[in-house]
Amino acid sequence: MHTQHLSPGLEGVVAAETRITEVDGTAGRLVIAGFELSELAGHATFEEMISLLWHDELPDREALAQLQHRLAHLRTAPDIAIQLLASAAEQRLSVMDALLMAAPTLRLGQHEAGSSEPLSLALRIVACLPTLVAAYWRLLQGAEPVSPREDLGHAANYLYMLSGCDPSAAQTHALDTYLCTVADHGLNASTFTARVIVSTRSDILSAVVGALGALKGPLHGGAPGPALDMVFEIGTAERAETYLRAALARGERLMGFGHRIYKVRDPRADVLAAAASQLYEKDGDRELYKLALQVEQTALQLLEELKPGRDLHTNVEFYTALLLHGIGLPTDLFAPTFALGRAAGWIAHCFEQQRADSLIRPQSTYVGPHGRKWAPVEQRQ
Ligand code: COA
Repeated sequence: MHTQHLSPGLEGVVAAETRITEVDGTAGRLVIAGFELSELAGHATFEEMISLLWHDELPDREALAQLQHRLAHLRTAPDIAIQLLASAAEQRLSVMDALLMAAPTLRLGQHEAGSSEPLSLALRIVACLPTLVAAYWRLLQGAEPVSPREDLGHAANYLYMLSGCDPSAAQTHALDTYLCTVADHGLNASTFTARVIVSTRSDILSAVVGALGALKGPLHGGAPGPALDMVFEIGTAERAETYLRAALARGERLMGFGHRIYKVRDPRADVLAAAASQLYEKDGDRELYKLALQVEQTALQLLEELKPGRDLHTNVEFYTALLLHGIGLPTDLFAPTFALGRAAGWIAHCFEQQRADSLIRPQSTYVGPHGRKWAPVEQRQ
């Protein structure tokens, strides 16, 4: 019998060549289309990031204005989506579940959007996902959804649709930084899911819906909510060591630390920490920011002492929690907001996979029995 190498979880398997991002877990580097993450995050708007990921270049002034205009024009979700979200809100579904129900309706209205070309569908998806999340969040609070505005950028409009108020420039800048930082990260589970789906020559909306399903799982969607809860529970810097030591002694994992790929500090933590520092400097709770830094330092010391050699460092989630909280988002919106950013990366990978046009179809090793015999139902025991 021909034996093949088994790689559970596909660990170590290289399944695609990509020009989109390079994740170097040993050096702690994230390169996006040739740019170090720190070159982009804090400088680029999410619209510029979309252009870079989808077209492999930063847009010039005219191309950017065109992209902004097209996205802004496509923000209105189909009525049926809002009706679905209202039913979901009555049953208090999670935001991710509601998004998973409403996202497929974006296929409706494609004709009004002007064209059935893949780029137009991609723009409609990215433009409308924030509308769905914000509408659902308001319905959950018993409030009416707020219609999108065409005069605001992508990040500002999302915040506006959530609260009904104009966000500050600092909040908008912080959200742009976050969305750009998480927009792509190699062949993670949801991105792989998206690539598998388009590899069958299915379409981008199906891929995004599948990717949302993969992202929803707790091993992927992340732990920023619990990381923030931990900082709140610790409350003051003096309590950090006792609290964290006790948690580690109980065998618990410290949320926001450790990573499968990064064996040094996650480069996304640095850019999000800088963004959080700026935000909390301007209009945030500076004490909370200082406390988070102290908790991080104590956690790193204890992980080094109690888990030597495991290379546990701060990951993206720790500062995601702080930044999104500082922007004013509730923890229930952390994972859906991650999805809004990652959608740009999913679609970039869909385009790349479509160009490669090769079906992703791994094999499995059968470990069940052979030689079983059919018996009619009345003879089965
Ligand atoms: N706190 C305490 N110990 C941790 C830890 C953490 N955050 N992360 C890993 N460890 C320990 C494990 O307990 C294990 O210890 P052991 O050797 O004594 O059994 C060792 O480090 C290796 O853990 P392992 O599960 O093999 O690492 P992994 O690469 O599969 O795990 C994560 C990666 C992200 C799942 C893991 O680090 C984790 O659970 N982190 C906390 C959750 C989190 O922040 N998730 C967001 C990731 S972006």
